[in-house]
Amino acid sequence: MLRFSLLGAFALAMMMVFVDSQHDYADALTKSILFFEGQRSGKLPPTQRMTWRKDSALEDGFYLHTNLVGGYYDAGDNVKFNFPMAFTTTMLAWSVIEFGNDMGSDYQHALEAIRWATDYFLKCTRIPNILFVQVGDPYGDHDCWERPEDMDTPRTAYAVSAKHPGSEVSGEIAAALAASSLAFKSVDAPYSKALLDRAVMVFKFADTYRGSYNDSLGKWVCPFYCDFNGYEDELVWAATWLYKATNAAEYIKYVRDNIYSISNISTSSTNGGSIGEFGWDAKHAGINVLVSEMTGNKEEPFSSNAGRLVCALLPESPTKWVEYSPGPSFLNPLSGGCNMQHPTALSFLLLVHGRSLDSTKSTISCDFGTTTPSRLIQVAKSQVDYILGTNPAGMSYMVGYGNKFPEFIHHRGSSLPSIDQHPERIGCRDGDPYFASKSPNPNVLTGAVVGGPLINDTYSDSRVDSVQSEPATYINAPLVGVLAYFKSNSR
Ligand SMILES: *[C@@H]1O[C@H](CO)[C@@H](O)[C@H](O)[C@H]1NC(C)=O
Ligand SMILES: *[C@@H]1O[C@H](CO)[C@@H](O)[C@H](O)[C@H]1NC(C)=O
Ligand SMILES: *[C@@H]1O[C@H](CO)[C@@H](O)[C@H](O)[C@H]1NC(C)=O
Repeated sequence: MLRFSLLGAFALAMMMVFVDSQHDYADALTKSILFFEGQRSGKLPPTQRMTWRKDSALEDGFYLHTNLVGGYYDAGDNVKFNFPMAFTTTMLAWSVIEFGNDMGSDYQHALEAIRWATDYFLKCTRIPNILFVQVGDPYGDHDCWERPEDMDTPRTAYAVSAKHPGSEVSGEIAAALAASSLAFKSVDAPYSKALLDRAVMVFKFADTYRGSYNDSLGKWVCPFYCDFNGYEDELVWAATWLYKATNAAEYIKYVRDNIYSISNISTSSTNGGSIGEFGWDAKHAGINVLVSEMTGNKEEPFSSNAGRLVCALLPESPTKWVEYSPGPSFLNPLSGGCNMQHPTALSFLLLVHGRSLDSTKSTISCDFGTTTPSRLIQVAKSQVDYILGTNPAGMSYMVGYGNKFPEFIHHRGSSLPSIDQHPERIGCRDGDPYFASKSPNPNVLTGAVVGGPLINDTYSDSRVDSVQSEPATYINAPLVGVLAYFKSNSR
């Protein structure tokens, strides 16, 4: 008897360890998509599930006699920054294209999350050779701690044009529209075609009138989402997506002709360069992985570059392009700030490249030995598990997932009482006491992944510490695809 129950207890303990380290990827996936409803700007639909959020910014663009209502707030503020919003959209679309079959009932919600952005981008790109790239004066906005529903800060709309170009932001919008056209191809053909037609037009504009929106818009975009590493990568990235969406030879020719214009992947990184980084400003790594997948890992320099990238990301590499925390660890480029955007985006690339190598029965010869596709997938899984709670702090970095998660996130809407609880207006600085409050945020921004811990695995759950406690759409977007994969393919 005794022996039996001891064995039973032992088995149970083993099971708990097992369950604990496995994580509930399905639950995390659902939440990671739900987060986007919390970031919505504009008129919310009756199907809105995150009900503490209400309509906001219903007259964006009206002072210019144009309708720019909709889209997403990027993070914990109420500005619509189209450059990171477009990258977010490209990654949501890539998640659906690559892993939509693994999403189950969340597939529809993922499409809704994409459409919320693409409907807005169609408005921003309606007038030929004029492209709206941002709504909301970032200085006015950042000076207030205000709910989006109460917003009374200047909703200035910023545009680029032939005379004042912005090839990085237009290029990324073209990429987002082309990738989204693929995500909608089988479910809404007319919408898919409208997105693709617009992508073609926007790319032509981006490529014909070359320049950085840094120069055209100055302090309205820098230091917020300043384009650090040039616009060439966004142009090639857009052409890559247009090739995937159209199969037209002109686009792959553009990619082949221009890949060498991007800072060389084998030289060392300067100023946030493209090495070991993939995010709203750096697309080089994504181009190499995507082109490799489309060409069966046969075409140079894409295939070698993708191989070099993934080798340099692995913890066993003696010449890593990233740093690992002590552990169990997360990977990070050597530059600081909003750490969790890196493991989510780079894990996405590890997964896509791992699967593509697997489908062509290939391995990679790294300088330190042969690496199999399953090793890439294993490293991606370690990163997701870290985010979900397998880490030294023993907490999940996704709000609302697991037993312990960030409760003091740097997010205006989440930290102020909701309109339902407090219908009266809360003015610009009247939110300050809520910002300083020692109580957890009243509204749970379910699914939001925060900027995350420092490289020594410590985390400060404090609204003041925005680098660590602020969520952002581009942290979550690649994670959607990664979670879908592990939902269907764990154990
Ligand atoms: C944009 O501005 C930043 C900061 O001034 C600078 O480092 C970067 O090189 C600029 N990018 C381009 C493409 O001009
Ligand atoms: C990087 O630069 C070297 C030297 O200029 C060149 O040989 C190589 O082809 C370049 N590779 C890529 C991918 O641009
Ligand atoms: C972690 O790093 C931060 C920033 O460098 C430092 O202030 C803190 O003391 C470190 N914590 C531990 C436990 O090492």
